[in-house]
Amino acid sequence: MSATLAVIAGDGIGPEVVREALRVLAAVEDVHRPEIEVEMLPYGADHYLRTGETIPPMEMKRLGRDFDAILVGALGDPRVPGNEHARDILLGMRFQLDLYVNERPARLFDARLTPLKEKQPPDIDLVIFRENTEGLYVSIGGTFKRGTPDEIAVAEELNTRKGVERIIRYAFEWAASHGKTRVTMADKANAIPAHMLWRRVFDEVGREYAGIQRDTRYVDAMAMDLVRTPEAFQVIVTGNLFGDILSDLASMLVGGLGLAPSANRDPGGVTMYEPVHGSAPQLAGRNIANPMAAILTLAMMLTDLGCAEAASAVEGAVRAAITEGVTTADLGGKMGTKEVGEWIAGKLRKG
Ligand code: NAD
Ligand code: IPM
Ligand code: MN
Repeated sequence: MSATLAVIAGDGIGPEVVREALRVLAAVEDVHRPEIEVEMLPYGADHYLRTGETIPPMEMKRLGRDFDAILVGALGDPRVPGNEHARDILLGMRFQLDLYVNERPARLFDARLTPLKEKQPPDIDLVIFRENTEGLYVSIGGTFKRGTPDEIAVAEELNTRKGVERIIRYAFEWAASHGKTRVTMADKANAIPAHMLWRRVFDEVGREYAGIQRDTRYVDAMAMDLVRTPEAFQVIVTGNLFGDILSDLASMLVGGLGLAPSANRDPGGVTMYEPVHGSAPQLAGRNIANPMAAILTLAMMLTDLGCAEAASAVEGAVRAAITEGVTTADLGGKMGTKEVGEWIAGKLRKG
């Protein structure tokens, strides 16, 4: 197997966790022999502040055309309070490369990791499919009378029939091909009539999947139920903003953002992999960020590239690190970012 990988390490803890993911990738290559050609790209806050460039349009084209995969650390920096570079780069990739599926799994590896009383690993095993190209993220709107007492700020939520249908269909297809029996949709149709589009399409598409139960919930109640009865959820499908919020919540059910991987997919094209977490500026440069989210993100990539054996070895090594307490402070351990990465890479080399 050979593949090309573009890496944008990005800001804050991004470069630190990506370094460990690449350390683990090197161990995987030594043992399992996939050939992955890595190209490091400089985009992020430093580059933006130095050059005024977020990401050149040609480079965005190249990402969609010349690579099998893209790995991103995180984007966001207090020196760029408007976050314009992150919107151009991160949302730019999602929108321009049409990465409409944001897949965010939350699986409990060890009962000790959940803050929920008496929940065991089989109780928390869900995947969120977040619509990734529409919703409130489209920057349709603007401000008026800015800086005055009469200021108005408008942000429109975009829901297209095509956009809603393709993410819902993806969720049902995924459920059907992974032996799941229920798909749950989160919306806010009781307050936002436009969300009835989601309900109609969910019913129409879901009816095509005879073995799969359809479950719709208002997102507020669903946030509560994720905590109360996480075992009720297998596959969740929702819009861009609710998916963003619910995926951070779901991560905490299984150990927090330090363990949450994700993939941004265009099923016909390139996939962009990134931990769910951000650049956590207060942790940056201190060797304390958990690299496991980035390492599990790498495992998602390996699975997609046809290296399922390598992916399960990586996941196994992460599980072993957790079991043996080789963890950063967020999981109750005393190890550094680098030490966790080195331990996992070493475990893979030992087999
Ligand atoms: P964040 O995810 O960076 O951090 C929130 C909290 O989660 C941190 O305070 C920390 O306690 C914990 N955390 C996150 N990652 C961790 C890790 N690897 N190990 C241990 N603990 C970890 O969210 P935020 O503070 O809201 O955002 C910080 C910046 O990151 C902002 O600029 C935001 O826009 C950006 N951001 C980027 C992405 C991305 O690039 N995909 C995602 C989320 C946030
Ligand atoms: C995420 C992040 C991004 C989002 C931010 C950085 C724009 O929170 O990937 O979850 O809201 O999608
Ligand atoms: Mn988020």
